[in-house]
Amino acid sequence: MDALENIHSRRSVRHFFNYPVPTDKVYAILEAAHAAPSSGNLDSWEFLVVDDEKKILEISSACNTQFWISDAPMVIIVLSDTDRVKRIYGNRGEFYSIQNSSAAVQNLLLAANAVGLGACWVGAFQEKEIKCALEIPDNRDVHAVIVVGDKAADPPKPKRKEVEYKCFFNKYGKRKTD
Ligand SMILES: Cc1cc2nc3c(=O)[nH]c(=O)nc-3n(C[C@H](O)[C@H](O)[C@H](O)COP(=O)(O)O)c2cc1C
Repeated sequence: MDALENIHSRRSVRHFFNYPVPTDKVYAILEAAHAAPSSGNLDSWEFLVVDDEKKILEISSACNTQFWISDAPMVIIVLSDTDRVKRIYGNRGEFYSIQNSSAAVQNLLLAANAVGLGACWVGAFQEKEIKCALEIPDNRDVHAVIVVGDKAADPPKPKRKEVEYKCFFNKYGKRKTD
């Protein structure tokens, strides 16, 4: 699969078979996440891989009761060492660390698609509850919950406006054809 085909065929998958995710695929997607760009190459992310059924149930409840998550065989929590980024970049560090994590998440989602897995980025979660369930230390932030598994359904492509509506040239509001 080439890069553009991967980007355009990736979907947020929310229905899974409960088969365990093979270890080589787990490492393939983690390596891809860890290959993302980061501010000053600080790679401020960490990944907590959860395949324990009970813990996944706790996570789904911490994600504002999105119980579809509990059917998945694996959840990857994306953590950030934001303090380290702030030590280098001051207040801007907070902004950078979120962007670093987001770049890692997108790489992870694309890698999951490339190795035939389904995945969904979940941002609706109660950080305190996730940290408590997984014994995450105070000096780490939870930036994303990624649900991963063998997809049991292929979701349709959601509708989007044509890209032209989102693009300006040389000044805000100026279209290519203006
Ligand atoms: C920051 C962020 C947070 C999201 N949070 C959730 C979520 O909590 N639950 C969920 O089911 N999907 C969540 N999604 C997935 C979006 O709903 C999905 O990307 C969007 O509907 C477009 O569909 P697609 O990913 O198939 O292109 C989130 C996506 C992003 C980028």
